[in-house]
Amino acid sequence: MSPRKIIIDTDPGQDDAVAILTALASPEELEVLGITAVAGNVPLALTQKNARMVCELAGRPRARVFAGCDAPLARPLVTAEHVHGKTGLDGAELPDPALPLQDAHAVDFLIDTLRAEPGGTVTLCPLGPLTNIACALQKAPDIAGRIAEIVLMGGAYFEVGNITPAAEFNIYVDPEAAAAVFACGAPITVMPLDVTHKALVTPERNRAFRDLGTRVGETVAAWTDFFERFDKEKYGSDGAPLHDPCVIAYLLKPELFSGRHVNVEIETASDLTRGMTVADWWRVTDRAPNATFMGDLDADGFFALLTKRIGRL
Ligand code: BDR
Ligand code: CA
Repeated sequence: MSPRKIIIDTDPGQDDAVAILTALASPEELEVLGITAVAGNVPLALTQKNARMVCELAGRPRARVFAGCDAPLARPLVTAEHVHGKTGLDGAELPDPALPLQDAHAVDFLIDTLRAEPGGTVTLCPLGPLTNIACALQKAPDIAGRIAEIVLMGGAYFEVGNITPAAEFNIYVDPEAAAAVFACGAPITVMPLDVTHKALVTPERNRAFRDLGTRVGETVAAWTDFFERFDKEKYGSDGAPLHDPCVIAYLLKPELFSGRHVNVEIETASDLTRGMTVADWWRVTDRAPNATFMGDLDADGFFALLTKRIGRL
């Protein structure tokens, strides 16, 4: 079978970086058509640069990185340096990238690619705020019907929120964009905090990355050491959640995850709960299901997969 074509839309971020590395290490299953950067964890100037550095770390000097939107659709940007550090990739030093940034805007790349490839063959993998995807849908509504699937990290139901008591970071940063994406009609699979908070890098799991004895393995372990301090303090957990790699792991081994096909709406109006993903997990409304909302994962299987793939680089 030919590999599945994907576009990774991202705001690296250490966990975004691990997701990108895992995808680039899996060419039999995934063909990464391009990586589109968006403002999120840190401003766009850093996320597009970080994406290029990660491609070089993976030994993929011909990967294509596009810069996209530098601010949410209707709000000022909120960033997360308190989690990811000043650069977004604090914890391991990487050289400035030689890989050039592509000339095209990420939104145009998304539109052109979805129009050029056969309908239903390109999967979008958003790992940050949904601004680029929503802009593409606004500018070219015809692309909605051409998207094979959107597999995204964002939202929460049982875990509720991480940036506010009610909202997860990616959705909170650009709720209007998230609302547009969830309404677009394409098949959507969601990796919410309910799943990603189970993908915890324990000391033993991080040792497995370090013990790969490679530059990439060392770098992943050092990044995780850096950002776990935040989650340990906040949740008292045993390590940091690797949120974004859940998206790529799902494409590689969907059987690691389980969830429900339900209705998900995004709160955009309330100051108190802005960015909340109102998932009808218990199916108490007659609102039509629009997303498969994951609830559980096989964490040991997930880390075994990640370690194996990262070990290829
Ligand atoms: C999400 O927010 C970012 O900090 C992470 O990269 C992840 O995409 C988790 O809430
Ligand atoms: Ca991210």
